[in-house]
Amino acid sequence: MLGIFKRALPRISILANRTLCKKAAPDASDQGPEKFKFNERNMERAKMIMSTFPEAEQRGALMALLDIAQRQYGWLPVTAIKEVSNMLKLDPFAVWEVATFYTMFNLKPVGKYCVSVCTTTPCYLRGSDDLLKTCKSMLNLKPGETSKDMQFTLKETYCMGACVNAPCLAVNDDLFEDVAQLDLEIILTDLKCGKIPTAGPKSGRCASEPMGGPTTLIHEPPPPGYMMQDLCK
Ligand code: FES
Repeated sequence: MLGIFKRALPRISILANRTLCKKAAPDASDQGPEKFKFNERNMERAKMIMSTFPEAEQRGALMALLDIAQRQYGWLPVTAIKEVSNMLKLDPFAVWEVATFYTMFNLKPVGKYCVSVCTTTPCYLRGSDDLLKTCKSMLNLKPGETSKDMQFTLKETYCMGACVNAPCLAVNDDLFEDVAQLDLEIILTDLKCGKIPTAGPKSGRCASEPMGGPTTLIHEPPPPGYMMQDLCK
């Protein structure tokens, strides 16, 4: 889901901080603030996004506001859900339902590195179960668990919108595609050493081009008026 959201709302990804990699050490016992307030910068962002929707359709800003709240606090406490519902004049339970439906929202503190493995059909057919097993054994965690030192959270998620590059996994905001066993071991080892691995397809292909390289649009495109010159003579 994270991938779909990032592709659908690129402006928000650019505007919001990529705080999950940079945040201070999370606290497992954190119950969330008694009252959640957006900081000044995030309130500006929230208002800008709300202003792009007509008055009667403010609910369209819901996902974006929840995302900003999560980035501000590191996870999404109930008080943030309440604040978003107040701002958008929505029933808090309706907002809660959205927050619990999408796996990108964390309703409890997560580790510094949130490793999400996609196990939906295309990724499953390309070996995501084996990737999940490797994550479980290397991190010593089950899906939904966070390590005691708050370094890692392991999640099993639904489609990230990058099926053509299956199997995929995400670490915080970064998507890793075409991930083989060895790639995963390197990614997790790097993270354990505090190194941020390079995101993107691990197969060496660019984005989602065919594995053997591009097969279309490989020549210079013809100039404007191509094949029309003779007709104009
Ligand atoms: S099924 Fe895994 S990215 Fe779509």
